[in-house]
Amino acid sequence: MLIALFPGDGIGPEVIEQAKRVLDALGIEGLTYEEGLVGGAAYKATGHPMPPETVDLARRADAILFGAVGDPDCDSLERHLRPEQAILGLRKVLTLFSNLRPAKMFPGMSDASTLRPEIAEKIDLVIVRELNGDVYFGEKGFRTTADGLREGYDVMSYNEAEVRRIARSAFETARARAGGKGGKLCSVDKANVLETSQLWRDVVIEVAKDYPDVALTHMYVDNAAMQLVRDPGQFDVIVTGNLFGDILSDQASMCVGSIGLLASAALDENGKGLYEPIHGSAPDIAGQGKANPLAAVLSAAMMLRYSLGEGEAADRIEAAVGKVLADGARSADLGGSMTTSQMGDAVLAALT
Ligand code: NAD
Ligand code: IPM
Ligand code: MN
Repeated sequence: MLIALFPGDGIGPEVIEQAKRVLDALGIEGLTYEEGLVGGAAYKATGHPMPPETVDLARRADAILFGAVGDPDCDSLERHLRPEQAILGLRKVLTLFSNLRPAKMFPGMSDASTLRPEIAEKIDLVIVRELNGDVYFGEKGFRTTADGLREGYDVMSYNEAEVRRIARSAFETARARAGGKGGKLCSVDKANVLETSQLWRDVVIEVAKDYPDVALTHMYVDNAAMQLVRDPGQFDVIVTGNLFGDILSDQASMCVGSIGLLASAALDENGKGLYEPIHGSAPDIAGQGKANPLAAVLSAAMMLRYSLGEGEAADRIEAAVGKVLADGARSADLGGSMTTSQMGDAVLAALT
């Protein structure tokens, strides 16, 4: 099994180093690794954030472990050359349309949440974010209005096939979490204003006919943002579009203590996946040993479970992370002072 490693920019390489140490410690036979360039690192080395060798490696690999991309040096480049195009491009060329972003409170961690403990303790949800469409991939550009004003535009759209496939993925996720039958799914949209969302809602309701055991509700995204901090325990699976899912998942991360804890899987129809922490390259702390590597470590666990058929190894990683957090391991984002490598050491020591 070939794993493509794309460390990327900023804290990406720092957190991927720890995830790799944990993978190595599991001693799983038959895993091989090949490293590739993405993001600002790739741009600086090759003139492009997602060079052809990177796409080739991503296609050849059985799974991809991705750090983060984003580099302030590159923020004024033409958009197609910016680091972020690497992650957007890989999601698109590999048709990784279903993004699972689980947020669960680890025992003994409610001190790190900005929510009151009795509210935070109930969090156990998954955001299923659509990744291949929406305003991210519509026509965009700059133009001049009739009055001579500069105007930027980005077209938001979803077609019914795109909504149907993510809805199916979300219903399946809800069912699987409920042990094969049942579960709850909340579809988040802005159908009171946006036609894109009206179509989204109509298609989700159509798909629901195939999943009568899953309890489907709908919520406007502004209310969902509010409910996520009011009573996050009400959510099981949330399905939403690319933009809303991006925003709500950062919010959900803080509800469970830190953006440094949230892992994700971006999956195609066949279970091939790209695994990455939901956080970015964090230029404000890069190179200082302050990054929390647990989101990357947990992303490696998701990779083992979803793409490599190594569910037991994934369980071992997740149990070790749970143990070190319960024992009080805290990096700076969690209110402590442990370094990136000390957090990695703690996970290694806790692996059974
Ligand atoms: P960010 O997620 O990089 O950082 C937001 C804040 O959270 C920062 O204060 C940062 O220090 C902190 N943080 C993030 N990850 C952390 C970790 N593991 N441990 C401790 N603290 C952590 O978001 P941003 O600052 O808005 O973006 C920075 C760059 O990253 C931008 O170029 C952006 O486009 C990019 N980005 C990339 C990805 C990705 O590669 N998938 C995701 C989000 C942002
Ligand atoms: C994420 C990031 C990306 C996104 C950026 C870097 C393109 O914020 O993975 O959450 O918006 O999808
Ligand atoms: Mn994001």
